[in-house]
Amino acid sequence: MKVLLIGSGGREHAIARQLSTSPRLTQLFIAPGNPGTAQYGQNVSIADTDIDQLVRFSQTESIDLVMVGPEAPLVLGLVDRLDALGIHVVGPNREAAQLEGSKRWAKDKMQKYGIPTAKYASFTELELAVAYIRNENQYPIVIKADGLAAGKGVVIAASEADAIQALKECMVDKKFNDAGNTVVIEQFLVGEEASVFAFTDGKTVLPMVAAQDHKAIYDGDKGPNTGGMGAYSPAPVVTDAVMQKIVDRAFIPLVDGFRSDGITYKGIIFAGLMIHDGEPYVIEYNARFGDPETQVVLPRLQTDLLDVLIAVATGTLDQIQLQWDSNSTVCVVIASEGYPGDYEKGIPIEGLDFLFNPNTWVIHAGTRKNAAGAIETNGGRVLGVVASSSALETAIKEAYIGVDQIKFKGKYSRRDIGAKGL
Ligand code: AMP
Ligand code: GLY
Repeated sequence: MKVLLIGSGGREHAIARQLSTSPRLTQLFIAPGNPGTAQYGQNVSIADTDIDQLVRFSQTESIDLVMVGPEAPLVLGLVDRLDALGIHVVGPNREAAQLEGSKRWAKDKMQKYGIPTAKYASFTELELAVAYIRNENQYPIVIKADGLAAGKGVVIAASEADAIQALKECMVDKKFNDAGNTVVIEQFLVGEEASVFAFTDGKTVLPMVAAQDHKAIYDGDKGPNTGGMGAYSPAPVVTDAVMQKIVDRAFIPLVDGFRSDGITYKGIIFAGLMIHDGEPYVIEYNARFGDPETQVVLPRLQTDLLDVLIAVATGTLDQIQLQWDSNSTVCVVIASEGYPGDYEKGIPIEGLDFLFNPNTWVIHAGTRKNAAGAIETNGGRVLGVVASSSALETAIKEAYIGVDQIKFKGKYSRRDIGAKGL
């Protein structure tokens, strides 16, 4: 099987690593990939948004299966193009990818399908949005840009003044360009967050084990949100009973609703959840695997990932049963100084050759190889260190031993990843 994996982050390194263990894999290409994915296949320098080139490459290389990592190519319609050529692909088409691409569309579907989520309203006119928050008069209140905003389009407003400012930045100042032409205003949910992914071929839904992300930049969940500073799995807040509710209330009604609306969804569904008193509420869906949650979820999968992805793409997921190991996994992200704001690139990284034990490994995210062949920083989230152990406490300790071996100027990690699970 020749597989093309699209993307270049830590998530894609984790997917490549997992695929590399499949006996059915004959060749793996990653577009554009990173120095981590290059350990498992051939990086191809095509951007994840260059749909024409990705389609052409899939044709000329006779790719058997395309696995789409990030959301951008989904929203741009890569899957529709590959479907039209009969090339098997894991990921929703453009219509179905609105689940992530438009928060209003997603909330309207949740409401229609009876999926538990925060009360909301959406607006295209500032005056009406302001009137709504004044009438609600409950703070905090959540203001979201409708379209893709690289995880930055959400403001938790503590007061009417903050809410109005967020609305203006979005709708008048166009902080998120056209992504903010429509805003969704939501009731603030309290509880503990968790991420649960599922595979679906549009008929069958197979949930994965739960994980917990650490979105804030500083320890104790303080400071601005990032793409995710670390993750661990399992997440104790998602008990078996809570998982059953998530499947029954967040996954099955969504897939069944899509089917009855004539929407084809095949790929990964990512449910971002708030768990309150054992009751799950959907904060948002994404149309892809999460990053860094994938780095801790996939290593626990004992079923051949390639078999599962083929079943997703060919509509035979009812033939698959997922097996998971019972270990705890932890991923600590190592970021550049300044992230999630501005940061420098091109800083040399040392310590990657440290002999990690077999249960600890390094994931590349924002790295690159310079002309001399050395690895240097190339992004905000630079690396992740993942550790797996029968005890969460040990996994955390091992991950931080790894983190401490790696050195570069301005290196930053949270020190409390996984502590919530102890
Ligand atoms: P989103 O991009 O929609 O996942 O939002 C980013 C983060 O904002 C979430 O992970 C939550 O921490 C927070 N958030 C979003 N919506 C809500 C809500 N309705 N209530 C409470 N927190 C929220
Ligand atoms: N870690 C959250 C996300 O991938 O969106």
